[in-house]
Amino acid sequence: MRKLVVVTGGSGYIGSVLCPLLVEAGYRVRVLDRFFFGNTIPDSENIEKIKIDSRQIMQSHLQGAYAVLDLAALSNDPAGELDPVKTLDINYRARRRLQELASDIGVERYILASSCSIYGFQDGILDENSPTNPLTTYAEANLRAEESALQLHANGTDLAVTLFRQATMYGLSPRMRFDIAVNGMTLGMWQNGTIPMLRDGTQWRPFIHIRDTSKAFILALNAKRELIAGERFNVGCKEQNYQIMQLGELVAEGIGKKFDFTWYGDPDHRSYQVNFDKVKDVLGFTPDWTPLEGAKEIADALESGTVKPDIYTKTLAWYTELIEWEKRMKDLAPDGNIL
Ligand SMILES: NC(=O)c1ccc[n+]([C@@H]2O[C@H](COP(=O)([O-])OP(=O)(O)OC[C@H]3O[C@@H](n4cnc5c(N)ncnc54)[C@H](O)[C@@H]3O)[C@@H](O)[C@H]2O)c1
Repeated sequence: MRKLVVVTGGSGYIGSVLCPLLVEAGYRVRVLDRFFFGNTIPDSENIEKIKIDSRQIMQSHLQGAYAVLDLAALSNDPAGELDPVKTLDINYRARRRLQELASDIGVERYILASSCSIYGFQDGILDENSPTNPLTTYAEANLRAEESALQLHANGTDLAVTLFRQATMYGLSPRMRFDIAVNGMTLGMWQNGTIPMLRDGTQWRPFIHIRDTSKAFILALNAKRELIAGERFNVGCKEQNYQIMQLGELVAEGIGKKFDFTWYGDPDHRSYQVNFDKVKDVLGFTPDWTPLEGAKEIADALESGTVKPDIYTKTLAWYTELIEWEKRMKDLAPDGNIL
């Protein structure tokens, strides 16, 4: 009998790659998602899909679950500023409530999809014990959701809570995102022959492929409880801390084009590097992918037309559009009906 893993936000950029890999790894999956970016999960007898807001999840949605992987969120800094109160509701309070529900009904494992952005921008190489410095509502909500999980752990819950501080991702997904660095650079190079480069290119950031992050989730699900309960892991690898200019060069090389770039934005001197020893030493995690390979797979998909840079692929633009629709609907149909 396959163990059941509940994945909130399972139809997102990471989830749509992770869920089929969970099935391959021998799990059953239940996706709980609003499907803001459509249904991007393949049909499978081992995958159940439920359209639900993460703020409305009830015990019945978790029934029979071995683990909860908590991915549902407004998933970047600018989207998190559209409505900071709602961001805290979705990215923090709904998660705290879910952690408590999971603990109450005897789910064994909970993994939070947090982010390295909670470190803010600090000098030096940051490990799991470095001070945090959340600079946006998105980062603040992640940090609070981590704290509520750790509080449950400190209170002696049987639920093994694990916090994944993920590097910025790249790679091809059925719910594609072109609003993250490698993917956006690849699109720019493919469309215009030039990489959009955030000034001044010397800033450091950590990166990881979505298939590798997915692998880390599976390693943690399979690991002994004492290795992961109450633990924070930076998820990424030392070698994939890059300066943005260097990253652009790799993207161009991956696509096989001459490196060229066009500046955008104000000079961004915010920089950070992350230490990933713990995830390697404790979970045995090593990545299979590099940004060069990630850029190549995306460029190939753009070339063959299997991925299109439509509005669904720009997270902020799509949520902004949805909010516009909501306003129009309220204005046009105060009783909820157009006709
Ligand atoms: N992609 C990255 O580079 C990255 C890096 C670090 C951390 N993370 C975190 O990993 C998680 C997943 O990121 P992603 O890139 O897949 O984002 P995504 O935006 O592609 O996916 C988020 C999913 O959550 C769903 N969702 C949003 N609000 C919801 C709600 N109220 N109720 C139910 N479902 C809701 C969306 O429909 C979507 O399917 C997020 O928590 C994100 O903050 C992502």
